[in-house]
Amino acid sequence: MLQQVNGHGSGSAAHGGESLREDLQEFLGGEAPLQQLDDLTKVNPVTLETVLRCLQAQYMADTFYTNAGCTLVAMNPFKPVPQLYSPELMQEYHAASQPQTLKPHIFTVGEQTYRNVKSLMEPVNQSIVVSGESGAGKTWTSRCLMKFYAVVAASPTSWESHKVAQRIEQRILNSNPVMEAFGNACTLRNNNSSRFGKFIQLQLNGAQQMTGAAVQTYLLEKTRVACQAPSERNFHIFYQIYKGAHAEERVRWCLPEGATFSWLPHPERTLEEDCFEVTREAMLHLGIDAPTQNNIFQALAGLLHLGNTQFADSGNEAQPCPLVDDAQCSVGTSALLLGLPEDHLLETLRIRTIRAGRGRQVFRKPCSQAECDTRRDCLAKLVYARLFDWLVSVINSSICAAPDSWTTFIGLLDVYGFESFPNNSLEQLCINYANEKLQQHFVAHYLRAQQEEYAVEGLEWSFVSYQDNQPCLDLIEGSPVSICSLINEECRLNRPSSAAQLQTRIESALTGRPRLGRDRLSPEPNFIVLHYAGPVRYRTAGLVEKNKDPVPPELTRLLQQSQDPLLKVLFPADPEEKSQEEPSGQNRAPVLTVVSKFKASLEQLLQVLHGTTPHYIRCIKPNSQAQAQIFHREEVLSQLEACGLVETIHISAAGFPIRVSHRNFVERYELLRRLRPATTLRRHGPCPDGGRSERPPCTEPATLQGLLQEILHALPAPLHCGRTKVFMTNSTLELLERARAQVLEQCARHIQRGWRRHRCRTQARRRRAAVLIQAAVRSWLARKHVRRLHAAATVIKRAWREWRIRMAFLASEELDGVEEKHSSQAPCSPSSSPLPLAQTRLQGAITRLWPLGLALANAAVGVHGFQRKLVVFACLQLPVGSPRSCAIQTAQEQAGVLSIRALPQGSIRFHCRKSPLRYADTCPGPSPDSVTGFNQILLERHRPGHV
Ligand SMILES: Nc1ncnc2c1ncn2[C@@H]1O[C@H](COP(=O)(O)OP(=O)(O)OP(=O)(O)O)[C@@H](O)[C@H]1O
Ligand SMILES: [Mg+2]
Repeated sequence: MLQQVNGHGSGSAAHGGESLREDLQEFLGGEAPLQQLDDLTKVNPVTLETVLRCLQAQYMADTFYTNAGCTLVAMNPFKPVPQLYSPELMQEYHAASQPQTLKPHIFTVGEQTYRNVKSLMEPVNQSIVVSGESGAGKTWTSRCLMKFYAVVAASPTSWESHKVAQRIEQRILNSNPVMEAFGNACTLRNNNSSRFGKFIQLQLNGAQQMTGAAVQTYLLEKTRVACQAPSERNFHIFYQIYKGAHAEERVRWCLPEGATFSWLPHPERTLEEDCFEVTREAMLHLGIDAPTQNNIFQALAGLLHLGNTQFADSGNEAQPCPLVDDAQCSVGTSALLLGLPEDHLLETLRIRTIRAGRGRQVFRKPCSQAECDTRRDCLAKLVYARLFDWLVSVINSSICAAPDSWTTFIGLLDVYGFESFPNNSLEQLCINYANEKLQQHFVAHYLRAQQEEYAVEGLEWSFVSYQDNQPCLDLIEGSPVSICSLINEECRLNRPSSAAQLQTRIESALTGRPRLGRDRLSPEPNFIVLHYAGPVRYRTAGLVEKNKDPVPPELTRLLQQSQDPLLKVLFPADPEEKSQEEPSGQNRAPVLTVVSKFKASLEQLLQVLHGTTPHYIRCIKPNSQAQAQIFHREEVLSQLEACGLVETIHISAAGFPIRVSHRNFVERYELLRRLRPATTLRRHGPCPDGGRSERPPCTEPATLQGLLQEILHALPAPLHCGRTKVFMTNSTLELLERARAQVLEQCARHIQRGWRRHRCRTQARRRRAAVLIQAAVRSWLARKHVRRLHAAATVIKRAWREWRIRMAFLASEELDGVEEKHSSQAPCSPSSSPLPLAQTRLQGAITRLWPLGLALANAAVGVHGFQRKLVVFACLQLPVGSPRSCAIQTAQEQAGVLSIRALPQGSIRFHCRKSPLRYADTCPGPSPDSVTGFNQILLERHRPGHV
């Protein structure tokens, strides 16, 4: 069962303290270093403390982007980091096969939206909501994203179309300096603070090339024209004119060097945003030509002079307020620059016209000093607001593509973050209301959708407690009664209303609302709204007036009479407007208050956002001094809470970001059934083939469920199975994929093993067959050889026997002849008569070779060749050397001795017999039959008397 992680407040409290820190230290010690974590949901455990530590470690290591589930957290580096936004890096993210695998970056979000548009998956249109507090880097981020799209969505088709696309992109990028000059100002929190909300729609054609853009602005802080908080400045454009105008322009616009203007505080401060030339250049690119620019700057100079128009108290209600000392001059200059008649201007500022009675008679009433000031400020705000809107429309007409030339869009929303000052008024109420709406959109899109899906799927999962801001929105905008409706009603009733009255009304009408409170210690009438990001105290004083934003009709009429070409465009004479200004009693048009207009535009924006796939970038300001490498934990903590990031992290970590349909899950992980141990296999029913064979894709729900259950039982980690989907965390997915890889590896091993076994067996069989064949052939050859030997031996034996018989016969004949001769001749002494040479040799041979004769006579038939030679060697007692070097030639043969044998019949004499063939050749000398040598010795030994 998944561990439940509840709201961050209680969670952090439960795990708080030193022991937690130690535990964390120990636990995280083995993990990847904090600065290398690419997702805050990976910190363990997810608490404010750990998330803060992770963010701090990353910031100190110059890592400015990290993920928090579906949100990208962007920390303001407060120093230039050019390599982080280089075109090369843009290309790298654009070309990456999976940009999510790269380091977290705004380009990852940009590329993701671009690919989503390309994929044409519903909803095709994309939106990026960039939020954060003032100075956190929203505008910077939006600017970088626009540059990114300008690079990746450039037209590559042809040189011509490329040029056109480049021009459009340049115009879109040029809209930034112009809008920032007119809509941004230096505040206590940001030198370049956007004083309006902005939604840029980047329009893409069918080939995903940027063909144009459209800008929608929200709630310009126009009061800044006439009223700047201490240490803050007016809009940048006033300073740009004041500091950057050429001498001739100064004369034309009546802006002499060193002139002071009450609506131009802190002109001595120089900011990099005060660059007039950049604004002028950008305006030129957007199609605002030099004369028009001149008209614009002239009108703005007129407003500066109008600000110097100070009224004094007349002391008499019937008399108009006089001007202070040199204010007359300022009125004159202002009227000149605005193309208005001076008298008419002054009269409009000081005298109110009232229509009353049946005949709608006109009454003229001098205004009080405060009323004069208000009318003056109102005139300035009116002119500036119209000018700003006109500029936006000019920019739009310059960058907007024809409706049929684009099909999809990527929206960039750069809105003011949540605001809470010591004194908050209608502006803060609107801004915080917008932030509540956006937070709700985020909640609706991500958190609630995620949890509702769990509920629909019947998942056993305790919901993460997150702050649902619906009660707060009900309090602000709900029906029938809410803060907005009450303020609007006050405006409609058109009755004098005090701040205390409004406070009481709000309290009594909205009593019991959980998100409403009041600061009872404050002397000023107020109410407190408990926003999702924290409580904010609003002053009720001036709320109704601001909401009414009344524009006296005389002012509009005055401006419609202007001779200035620009003001003529800004205030055209409109008959409808006239009729609105002079309503009859019953036919009065509904009052369009600031709140109702803002609410309408906000709803329109949210409608657009609901039709897109949203992406969120939360900008964080690490410190309020705008210093690099400084991380203030408390400030960051309050921002994390303000942007609801902690809930996001919790729900992302505790929830199941991965959901797979049952079918897809079974198809991918069916093979994991092999992991099931043998016992489980038996217990969980049959698996007929042991999971070995491939099944056809299962279509039957019952089969599917059966398989699913089998897989789930076999898995090493518990999974959460809903009605139609399987839910898992990233870590479970990793586990499953690892197990799958393991099973596939096992399968591969099985196949390899089988193949090797098969190969070995085949080889062994072949070897055995080869050996059998070889043995058969060899035995056949051997038998054949032996048969031949036998035949040869038989022949030899026969010839030998025949020869022996013949020889025996010849020898017996010979011996018989010798005996006869001996008996007839007297024996003669060998010493007395020396034997001839041949006879001597013969005798020697007989003496040496007689054992040979014996041996050969008795030798086995098969003894021949070398063996026979060895026998001869042994008999002759010859030295045994190399058989080759010692060719044996028996002396017996040389001497022609054929055989030596004892005389038969008990004779004690040996008989030497010479080969008749040899004898004839080698011993032609005297008769060989004489007894010599050994025979002679024997004879002599056996001779009587010799012992
Ligand atoms: N990524 C960045 N790299 C370098 N400097 C940055 C970066 N982001 C922001 N800054 C610095 O922070 C300043 C404030 O940023 P930015 O104007 O975008 O804030 P913001 O959120 O739009 O504030 P506001 O709500 O007041 O308009 C910039 O002027 C710039 O100096
Ligand atoms: Mg900004």
